[in-house]
Amino acid sequence: MNPDNSRRASPRSHPRLWPAVAGPALLLALSSAASAESALANVYARQGVDMGTMEGFPNPPAMVRDRQSRPAPHATSLNGKWNTIIDPYDVGYVDYRGVSQDALARPTRGFALDRRQQDKSELVEYNFDTSPTLTVPGDWNSQNDRLLYYEGALWYRRRFDAPKSAPGNRLFVHFGAANYEADVYLNGWRLGRHVGGFTPFAYEITGLAKEKDNSLVVRVNNRRRPEGVPAMNTDWWNYGGLTRDVLLVQTPGTFIAQYHVGLKAGTRDRIEATVQLDGPRKQQKITVTLAGLGLKAEARTDASGVARIEFPAAQIPLWSPERPALHDVVLSSETDKIADRIGFRTIETRGTDILLNDKPVFLRGICIHEENPMRGGRAYSVEDARMLLGWAKELNANFVRLAHYPHNEHMARVADELGLMVWEEIPVYWAIQWENADTLHLAQAQLTELIARDQNRASVVVWSVANETPITPERTRFLKTLVDTARSLDGSRLISAAMEVHGDKHNPDLRIVDDPFGEFTDLVSFNQYIGWYDGLPDKTARISWSIKYPKPVVISEFGADALQGWHADALTRFSEEYQEDLYRKTIAMLRKIPAWRGVTPWILADFRSPRRVLPNVQDGWNRKGLIGENGTRKKAFAVLKAFYDEVEQRAVRGK
Ligand code: GCU
Repeated sequence: MNPDNSRRASPRSHPRLWPAVAGPALLLALSSAASAESALANVYARQGVDMGTMEGFPNPPAMVRDRQSRPAPHATSLNGKWNTIIDPYDVGYVDYRGVSQDALARPTRGFALDRRQQDKSELVEYNFDTSPTLTVPGDWNSQNDRLLYYEGALWYRRRFDAPKSAPGNRLFVHFGAANYEADVYLNGWRLGRHVGGFTPFAYEITGLAKEKDNSLVVRVNNRRRPEGVPAMNTDWWNYGGLTRDVLLVQTPGTFIAQYHVGLKAGTRDRIEATVQLDGPRKQQKITVTLAGLGLKAEARTDASGVARIEFPAAQIPLWSPERPALHDVVLSSETDKIADRIGFRTIETRGTDILLNDKPVFLRGICIHEENPMRGGRAYSVEDARMLLGWAKELNANFVRLAHYPHNEHMARVADELGLMVWEEIPVYWAIQWENADTLHLAQAQLTELIARDQNRASVVVWSVANETPITPERTRFLKTLVDTARSLDGSRLISAAMEVHGDKHNPDLRIVDDPFGEFTDLVSFNQYIGWYDGLPDKTARISWSIKYPKPVVISEFGADALQGWHADALTRFSEEYQEDLYRKTIAMLRKIPAWRGVTPWILADFRSPRRVLPNVQDGWNRKGLIGENGTRKKAFAVLKAFYDEVEQRAVRGK
């Protein structure tokens, strides 16, 4: 997806690179390598991309699906060792006056050119070949102690030969994510800029890639910025880099670029599918097949390449945590064929109940950061997902809150398999520039990219648009716009955010939840830290609640820091006993909330945070995990598990 990630990108957020009309013409006039630039212009023209904003390819996720078109393999990994240059002063990007060449489709200087000295007298003051390497996927902070706290630009370079390709096929370079801003260049051509650290993006390089020895250069910059999403202040580590897989993806000339398959709204026995083709042959026959269920349906795409299909699916085994049924779905057109494994379920609220497949459900949850504590870096692999979600299953959880940004795609897919419902969130966190239109576009784009990526995951039941944001009219307007965006893209899931609680000056033991934003959400979810930031655990016993909205209440955070292995009495902060005691007493307090329908304590495992500086206790880690950085369970783990076992038993008995 695109630099500021939405087709509505306002020129203000990007130095206007090229008046759209003049773009291709100008390009042709300027450069010599006619074939490459015409390829570039064609690529942009074909995608209707506005040169001014250098947008990338809309909705890359469908691109990397299991494609059964020929030649196989359709995806080639570019993971592995990449040469890198740390560039805190942006010498590879701007001249000594600080001027960049963003306006040029083909920069004439800078690291993007990946130059090599041709003769002994030539002045080239960098050399990727002899520069250190970093592993991709992976953040740079945990790979090299000198980079642990590094925030700034870092250049990656990877050389590759183009995969064998059938005539008419197209080629894309696909990134699972890059934190925070990525400028991508191929053979010296600027492909575009993606902003936002946690969602996929891709660029078409058909005709731009040479058969041999292509130079792919990516400038990744994780500098925090007040207009960013997130902005300057987070309680997590600002891991930078190419944090997820990088792939070369081949597709047929016209391919299935987007699809959604799910139950028709309001039914449990009708399937609805939408398919979007991309390429010259927009009008084709589309077939949706669920061979395992003996279901097959056909339709034709319209002039814009879209087909909508609806068909009966009686008695289809539904997905639930108890029985995470997934079905093989094959979508084929006349030129393309892809496969996916999809579960079917309904999720809704009715009064203060949450209904999964029409049955009331209690969300036995836990919050998770996208980090592998043992490795101390960003999690990115299917193995990382299995470890983290396996721990959640061990808690007897049926729900996880992936905080505070879109995690890698493996998480939702493994949750589909393991039977865990999922809350996904975009990093509209604490203080954001609520009145900055570009910031809003950026947040909308991250939400759009997340929904595009995970809309076919049965496990995903909640889209969350924010965490702990101040109650101001500008903020509420901002968040309401995000709710509208989410509902317009996907009306089949619950929408929420982690809101806050406030006190009452007349009654010190009353806690009030009346955030005006609660009017627009399906759940009343809020973070509360009574017993940690607000008094001692005993305080929980005398707290009463006033919750404005008659909706299901989901406690999106509570918790306490505990250094794993530190044992003392229950009043000693940072001891396991304090955390254990807080869990017991908080659960007892929450039982008194009549509409309590779910909880995701903060947090599954200790995680790195630059805000946590207490020596010999925190040392750069938030210690609110139920599992220490070495994987050892703390005493509170058993308290929460016992509660979830009890809740599960009660549900089984239908209570
Ligand atoms: C906040 C916040 C988390 C943070 C946690 C804490 O509520 O949402 O991101 O880590 O509290 O203070 O530990």
